[in-house]
Amino acid sequence: MKDFLCINDCAAEQLKELLQESSELKKLYKSGERDLCLSGKSLAMLFEKPSLRTRISFHVAMAELGGNAIYVKPEDIGGIGKREPIKDMARVLSRYVDGIMARTFEHYSVTELAEFATVPVINALTDWSHPCQAMADVLTIQEHCGKIEGVKIAYIGDGNNVARSLAFACGKLDMKMVVASPTGYDLDAESIQAANRTSANCVSQTNDPREAVANADIIYTDTWVSMGQEDEKQERRASFEDFQVNAELLKSAPANVKIMHCLPAHRGYEITDEVAESDNSIMFDQAENRLHFQRALLKKLMT
Ligand code: CP
Ligand code: NVA
Repeated sequence: MKDFLCINDCAAEQLKELLQESSELKKLYKSGERDLCLSGKSLAMLFEKPSLRTRISFHVAMAELGGNAIYVKPEDIGGIGKREPIKDMARVLSRYVDGIMARTFEHYSVTELAEFATVPVINALTDWSHPCQAMADVLTIQEHCGKIEGVKIAYIGDGNNVARSLAFACGKLDMKMVVASPTGYDLDAESIQAANRTSANCVSQTNDPREAVANADIIYTDTWVSMGQEDEKQERRASFEDFQVNAELLKSAPANVKIMHCLPAHRGYEITDEVAESDNSIMFDQAENRLHFQRALLKKLMT
């Protein structure tokens, strides 16, 4: 495993090992101990889009493992693939650092980096996928549900990058997922088929959020307007109106259902403040687990 670009590139065993390592390192760090396995190593972090969780959690994870993180904005380097070809950036960076993580618009940018870099490349979100988020989500589900296999997720909202990575994780790790989206915003059929090839019928689609949550262990939502879609904001908000995670929707779900959101949350749109702040919500445990999963990922790829 050189890179971490897509959950579907990994074997189920590798994902399980990463989850195990995440839990072990989480325990170790909570006890005040440290594993300085990345001492003297550097990670370049390229960001074409804003970030709170990904940027800070990767930076802290590197520092806590004894390494160093370098934050790079596109304007610092003349854009990704603009001032110079991505393949040249990849080979130059490989001479300086021990790992590259990138948050880009096009998924091609991270695959091109990975093809030409001789050091590991990590996908920190592209328009197509968000694998680090999905693995932190699975870690959170394991902690709150006591298991992964057979857990039922109702994903309410846009069939976007976050939904896609979660669907792939369900396929690899035998979880069930129903994606409830308005017509035209579904998760694409090819991604659903890819998930279902690894675990038959694990991901399905509906346009009815109430049906989706009926026997869910987890209700998951994300923004209706992803980074880069700001021009479609009005249209999207109108289309997703009936797909809000609110108290009314929760009446159709089991009382102890857990609420997840990758954050940032837009209260009053995809989720109400009431539900986000309710006892059912585990979204801050979920945010914390970005750090714990990525610590394990960095250790696995960079040692
Ligand atoms: N969930 C997530 O990736 O958050 P950021 O965009 O703040 O990194
Ligand atoms: N789907 C969102 C996720 C943000 C973490 C986006 O791409 O903006």
